[in-house]
Amino acid sequence: MDNNLLEGLNRQINQELYSAYIYFTMSAYFFEINMDGFGKLIKEQAAEELEHAKRIYGYLLARDEKIKFYPIEAPDNNWINPIDAIKSALQHEKVVTSLISKLYEISKEVKDYAGEIFLQWFVTEQVEEEEKFRNILAKLENVQNYDCEVVNMDRELKKD
Ligand code: FEO
Repeated sequence: MDNNLLEGLNRQINQELYSAYIYFTMSAYFFEINMDGFGKLIKEQAAEELEHAKRIYGYLLARDEKIKFYPIEAPDNNWINPIDAIKSALQHEKVVTSLISKLYEISKEVKDYAGEIFLQWFVTEQVEEEEKFRNILAKLENVQNYDCEVVNMDRELKKD
């Protein structure tokens, strides 16, 4: 595999693990302020991120490439309110989208067709990830002046 693409995929494993770390931190924030529905949702997001990391890990093993692990920094957790937290989640997903796009571009440039097909799943997934947080943020912003409605929304999110 092209070295640049390999390095990028290894870095992306780290990025997905960092994403999981961010969402575990954020879920703890929501549980701590007794917004258990949001806490549950964001904890599930953390689990999804671990799956993303495992997906790349499995792909590199299948391609007989060397997997590298990098340090994971501690996420900021100084959100001032739920809107601030969800805004930062959306912002984070936009960064991830740009990283995935870059990897996709590299795979095209170096004509790594398997890599291109592999990364298509992530390209589609990022549309979903951004949409998820954009929708939650829009709803929160709509009801930010009506505390009881935020509580109702949290109750809805908590349902299976
Ligand atoms: Fe794995 Fe939220 O991107």
